[in-house]
Amino acid sequence: MPSLSYWFFTTLLCFFSDTVFSGDPFVYFDWTVSYTTLSPLGVKQQVIGINKQFPGPILNVTTNWNVVVNVKNDLDEPLLLTWNGVQHRKDTWQDGVSGTNCPIPAGWNWTYEFQVKDQIGSFFYFPSLNFQRASGGYGGIIINNRAVIPVPFGLPDGDVTILLSDWYTKSHKDLRKDVENGVDLGIPDGILINGLGPYRYDDTLVPNGISYQIINVEPGKTYRIRVHNVGISTSLNFRIQNHNLLLVETEGSYTVQQNYTNMDIHVGQSYSFLVTMDQNASTDYYIVASPRFVNTSWAKATGVSVLHYSNSQGPASGPLPSLPDQDNPSFSINQARSIRWNVSAGAARPNPQGSFRYGDITVTDVYVILNRPPELINGKWRTTLNGISYLPPSTPLTLAQQYKILGVYKVDFPNRFMNRPSKVDVSLINGTYRGFMEIIFQNNDTTVQTYHLDGYAFFVVGMDYGVWTENSRSTYNKWDGVARCTTQVFPGAWTAILVSLDNAGIWNLRAENLNSWYLGQEVYLQVVNPENDSNENILPDNAIYCGLLSSLQRDQSHKFQFSIGSPLSNNSRMISFMLLFLALIVSLHGMCNFEY
Ligand SMILES: *[C@@H]1O[C@H](CO)[C@@H](O)[C@H](O)[C@H]1NC(C)=O
Ligand SMILES: *[C@@H]1O[C@H](CO)[C@@H](O)[C@H](O)[C@H]1NC(C)=O
Ligand SMILES: *[C@@H]1O[C@H](CO)[C@@H](O)[C@H](O)[C@H]1NC(C)=O
Ligand SMILES: *[C@@H]1O[C@H](CO)[C@@H](O)[C@H](O)[C@H]1NC(C)=O
Ligand SMILES: *[C@@H]1O[C@H](CO)[C@@H](O)[C@H](O)[C@H]1NC(C)=O
Ligand SMILES: *[C@@H]1O[C@H](CO)[C@@H](O)[C@H](O)[C@H]1NC(C)=O
Ligand SMILES: *[C@@H]1O[C@H](CO)[C@@H](O)[C@H](O)[C@H]1NC(C)=O
Ligand SMILES: *[C@@H]1O[C@H](CO)[C@@H](O)[C@H](O)[C@H]1NC(C)=O
Ligand SMILES: *[C@@H]1O[C@H](CO)[C@@H](O)[C@H](O)[C@H]1NC(C)=O
Ligand SMILES: *[C@@H]1O[C@H](CO)[C@@H](O)[C@H](O)[C@H]1NC(C)=O
Repeated sequence: MPSLSYWFFTTLLCFFSDTVFSGDPFVYFDWTVSYTTLSPLGVKQQVIGINKQFPGPILNVTTNWNVVVNVKNDLDEPLLLTWNGVQHRKDTWQDGVSGTNCPIPAGWNWTYEFQVKDQIGSFFYFPSLNFQRASGGYGGIIINNRAVIPVPFGLPDGDVTILLSDWYTKSHKDLRKDVENGVDLGIPDGILINGLGPYRYDDTLVPNGISYQIINVEPGKTYRIRVHNVGISTSLNFRIQNHNLLLVETEGSYTVQQNYTNMDIHVGQSYSFLVTMDQNASTDYYIVASPRFVNTSWAKATGVSVLHYSNSQGPASGPLPSLPDQDNPSFSINQARSIRWNVSAGAARPNPQGSFRYGDITVTDVYVILNRPPELINGKWRTTLNGISYLPPSTPLTLAQQYKILGVYKVDFPNRFMNRPSKVDVSLINGTYRGFMEIIFQNNDTTVQTYHLDGYAFFVVGMDYGVWTENSRSTYNKWDGVARCTTQVFPGAWTAILVSLDNAGIWNLRAENLNSWYLGQEVYLQVVNPENDSNENILPDNAIYCGLLSSLQRDQSHKFQFSIGSPLSNNSRMISFMLLFLALIVSLHGMCNFEY
């Protein structure tokens, strides 16, 4: 029965036919988020799975589809899933971060419903609260082009998702305690590739008996490989032995197509490469993800999986392909600058990406945001942006705004670092609706940080070492800077982005490095459409209430009748469900697509 119930509940029902439904298609998912015991590095530990899968299922949809995900929280703590890179246009209520949603209490479920409006590309989802991403709960998101919009390269022979993560055998609960206590995360116990440990490329570094990822390919074929760094805090260098990575897309933008032998992928970033199987298959080939900008004692934490041609003559062997010079700070920044937008390619809309001439738009608001390493504020380890450490209020910002509750937050985030003592606060950025904002991230920490903005894609226009000044603007790329949602900021360096504030809502701007984020390195950007004071975002009927509004919350009375993890004890009910379901398949045959 487990496999049958699994099959039943994870089935994606796809009501496809415009002859039946005039609008954009809906896809439905039932996801149970729970712990599952796995040993990715040979040590048993609790991992967060979705329907017992780790990593979770890939959300594979097409531009403008409506996605409905009923999430059941089977963990022992509150949960929210966030959809990194999905813009939720005018729908801040689906963003799944502490400022937009009350957490789903343990044992409850909540249904996300959102449209992937005007977007294409490669993203991922993850649990946004309590350091949970350190235990998993993540999976890939693919948003395909609509059939009417050509993709700027030939149809690949396969589509492979690769999720990279620095990994600790400690639980997320122990890791977050360490972070609260100012204890460095230290060297990861390993780098996982799709939730699996390293191939035994070196008997002294990798113990026997670890399962590793094998990517099976056919000689001569070309695959689209989507690579995401879903880890906690480690920048990773990704490479495939003897194979070029032809970069084609990053976080929803088609790029100028260029070959790389390796790519630095920072926490929270996503890239698509085309990889052609053009080698002679005398052996298998290593797929490697190594920690970047660290010392040699990190070498034991190297992610290794295997690229296996169907005609391969033997296992991969010998040394791993080499990492770019760890001590050369300009390699990585130059590589980042080389990633550019293909201005002539169409994406979510048929008109070329470059028809949005961001370089010609007048900037209306400028924020220079300085991050600093952890410091003690009132006896607690905290991280800050412009001297402010964000502490999530118990009432989400969106609910406070909707119900006009004063005192939950202020909209007074400073546009520069203020020379005053750091403080813990709930201070938002006031974004001008339809304005054009310039944000400069200035990294005063000693490690690479990445920053992510929800609700938007932004243009990465400049990046350099040193302190940003007004003169730095003369180096901006005003023409083909890539639009994405997550950018790295090198230590002692700055990164400048431009963003068009056309999406009303309250949007999270955060460090993707979990340790920086967890200690307060985030801020929300409030964008209000003044012509529509009733907030364009409509509070969903199923909204959960908490904090100052918890009296509005009705108890969730249904309390799950069935669970994916533990199959139904009552088989007759199960069987009748299945029969109903089969009847549905038969009746919808021809206008419905099914995937298992
Ligand atoms: C995603 O779904 C499309 C159909 O909508 C299918 O053609 C494609 O193979 C799927 N991709 C993956 C990676 O499953
Ligand atoms: C919880 O799941 C049930 C069905 O499994 C659904 O009817 C209900 O709407 C869900 N609750 C929320 C708040 O989404
Ligand atoms: C990328 O490398 C492949 C060989 O792996 C080559 O065939 C192709 O022409 C290169 N493309 C570009 C744009 O350099
Ligand atoms: C296959 O390619 C490798 C590396 O490019 C080369 O060293 C080897 O001699 C080749 N083997 C054959 C059988 O062509
Ligand atoms: C290497 O890095 C680790 C973790 O960042 C640190 O604890 C260790 O002291 C470093 N070792 C050397 C030799 O610098
Ligand atoms: C840009 O996209 C166009 C499709 O519009 C494609 O033909 C072209 O090869 C791409 N250019 C580069 C440099 O990747
Ligand atoms: C935000 O800025 C707008 C002008 O862009 C102004 O009208 C509004 O009062 C500001 N809101 C707050 C809370 O400061
Ligand atoms: C951080 O700022 C201080 C001055 O406030 C400066 O001396 C130091 O070099 C900066 N560190 C980095 C990594 O930017
Ligand atoms: C204001 O927003 C609501 C909710 O999206 C919408 O129904 C209404 O038409 C909007 N009003 C105006 C004047 O745009
Ligand atoms: C299973 O459920 C059916 C209908 O709900 C009920 O009639 C039957 O007694 C149940 N069987 C068991 C073994 O609980």
